[in-house]
Amino acid sequence: MTVQETDQDPSHQVEAAGKAFEQEFERFARFTGDSNGLVGLTLDEAVAQERSLSDLRTRHLGKKSALAAAKKLIGRVPSDQRAAFGQRVQSVEADLVARFDAAESTLKQYIERQRTARESIDVTLPGRRPRRGHRHPITLLRERIEDIFVALGYAIEDGRELETDFYNFTALNIPDNHPARGTQDTFYTTDGFALRSQTSTVQIHAMQRRGVPVRMIAPGRVFRRDTPDPTHNPMFFQVEGLCVDRGITMAHLKGTVEEFLRRMFGPETVTRFRPSYFPFTEPSAEFDFGCFKCQGSGCRICKNSGWIELGGSGMVHPNVLRIVGVDPQEYSGFAFGLGIDRMAALMYNLDDIRLLFENDVRFLEQFE
Ligand code: FA5
Repeated sequence: MTVQETDQDPSHQVEAAGKAFEQEFERFARFTGDSNGLVGLTLDEAVAQERSLSDLRTRHLGKKSALAAAKKLIGRVPSDQRAAFGQRVQSVEADLVARFDAAESTLKQYIERQRTARESIDVTLPGRRPRRGHRHPITLLRERIEDIFVALGYAIEDGRELETDFYNFTALNIPDNHPARGTQDTFYTTDGFALRSQTSTVQIHAMQRRGVPVRMIAPGRVFRRDTPDPTHNPMFFQVEGLCVDRGITMAHLKGTVEEFLRRMFGPETVTRFRPSYFPFTEPSAEFDFGCFKCQGSGCRICKNSGWIELGGSGMVHPNVLRIVGVDPQEYSGFAFGLGIDRMAALMYNLDDIRLLFENDVRFLEQFE
């Protein structure tokens, strides 16, 4: 509202400006007396009050304030009243300034005191120790697996989670029309990359980078469009193993897997291989081990079968060797892959692998 638009009488302007101030300043009035008006005010609240007080000062005393506008009208005041008008304006202004100053100084002192109190340190108090975290059960298990294979002379290979069609399928001897390529089974990005559905992709990267002979394991995250249930998650962990050299046979595969399981679950552990099919191995086998809980007599964990399924394996398919430029007449190899989540569920007696990703600290705390 400008002076020109409304009441043209300068004295009225001054009075109106004074009234408007009174109304708006009311909420700061409690800061002009003693410091009782500040009781219970937090530091942040006090800082916010100081800021709005400063805004109010600009509005009522600044260049664009009603009071400043009224002052400019002094020329319109008849000369016999001019001196009185001038005095009136000055006294209103002085009153406003005094009250703003009082409130501001109380607030400033209060803020200063609060800051000092907050920043003061009692050096005699015992220190507050940050709560120590610990590794996730999946990580603990992955590290145990890595330790065993490193001791057996294997290197640890890092893989990629986002793969091209070539690494995820073609190079693994999965033909164009194979159901594993369907959007039903795998997640694709809009650019046509696939989130890898198994760590077997690392076999190709490892042979391309290291050449042969090669002995490596590749732990990592994989993704499948599986509906979550107690034994399935759309994201889980696998460990891939690959050994390619001259003269490698199925006996080496069996010996390696058996040795790994004995070191993992104890020297009494027994293993069995069942015929299976994977496009990138020939022949292929799935391997189970004798239940570590009931030693084969049958229990809830092994669903009374005495055996626990652990993963897939086989002799590397000649097409896979050829695609990375390795002559299958000269070299042969074995590969295997196992699911870490299910292994963790079995080891820690969990009845649902989804617990591993719910990040409930009450659950995770138990694995220190
Ligand atoms: C494979 O993924 C093959 N790449 C294994 C392989 C490697 C065979 C090398 C031959 C040579 P499979 O689809 O069976 O195989 O998965 C292997 C393991 O992953 C399973 O035994 C299981 O432990 C785990 N797994 C599979 N799907 C899920 C899931 N949705 N949630 C949690 N674990 C899973």
